[in-house]
Amino acid sequence: MKINIALLAGDGIGPEVIDQAVKVCDAIAIQYDHEINWKPALTGAAAIDAVGEPYPDETHEICANSDAVLFGAIGHPRFDNDPSAKVRPEQGLLKMRQKLGLFANVRPTFTFPSLIDKSPLKKERIEGTDLIILRELTGGIYFGERGRTDNSNTAFDTMTYERFEIERLARKGFEMALKRSKKLCCVDKANVLESSRLWRETVQAMEKEYPEVEVSYEFVDAVAMRLVQWPKAYDVMITANLFGDILTDEASVISGSMGLMPSSSVGSDVSLYEPIHGSYPQAAGKDIANPLATVLSAAMLFEDFDLNKEAKAIREVVNKSLAEGIVTEDLSDDAKSYKTSEVGDWLAANI
Ligand code: IPM
Ligand code: MN
Repeated sequence: MKINIALLAGDGIGPEVIDQAVKVCDAIAIQYDHEINWKPALTGAAAIDAVGEPYPDETHEICANSDAVLFGAIGHPRFDNDPSAKVRPEQGLLKMRQKLGLFANVRPTFTFPSLIDKSPLKKERIEGTDLIILRELTGGIYFGERGRTDNSNTAFDTMTYERFEIERLARKGFEMALKRSKKLCCVDKANVLESSRLWRETVQAMEKEYPEVEVSYEFVDAVAMRLVQWPKAYDVMITANLFGDILTDEASVISGSMGLMPSSSVGSDVSLYEPIHGSYPQAAGKDIANPLATVLSAAMLFEDFDLNKEAKAIREVVNKSLAEGIVTEDLSDDAKSYKTSEVGDWLAANI
């Protein structure tokens, strides 16, 4: 198969982790006889520096005309403490999600047997955790009206949802649940928010189309608690943009390191694959960041093209590296840890 992949390395550790995923994908291409054409493009702070814009039109063209996008990370500390900055790297990410129509963000959380002791939670609580948070990604408070009034002394952000936005996300949730344990949890704050009441109403109306799926409705604050008490209670969860942002960070550490969890963002023709973690600027250029989340994001990419053997090969080689201790310093107990690039080389050589 011929696959054109837009390659958006972005900021911080983005370029380093992306390099490793490319090595692994190229090894897969050789092994399974595919042709991958990488199309590098600028995004984030790197793009602001080069062309004054975090998601330039040229980058959008490259993404829109590719079969998939592989993304590293976005964000640079020089913008974080400057509330007056006119352009921010993060705006590039939001613009990209919107322009590519990526309304559903698929964020799985699962455990690795060899890392079970790395989790901040007790082993018996997390062993066998396997859940997916489906986060709405192009609506809600991220994209609602915001501003200042009262001589700038009052600020507001608006959480707006239209029925169709909830419906299309929920449909993905129902379909995903059908392929898994047939359990779907709608996470909202319907005891307070009107937009959440529309979520509940919409999802309830869809239940009759999916009689096999058992749907539950839970409040986001209770879910935040239960996720760390008993994550095995959950399978497929659907939720609004901001709730999903928060819950997926919480869920991602269950596995033991945020550097492990992949994600995909889907909606229209072109899907995007990226690690859940951010740009980790303190580690940039040091060759110490964990590349596994990005490598596993590439596995999700292959799976979406029905290249399941390829995806499985990536997952297996990742498991093997963990079991054999070929890991970066975040996962290493003893003095011996490997560089980002060494882990990538090892993975590619063992495909
Ligand atoms: C994420 C990130 C982004 C978000 C930021 C960088 C804008 O935290 O992908 O979860 O809030 O969506
Ligand atoms: Mn986030």
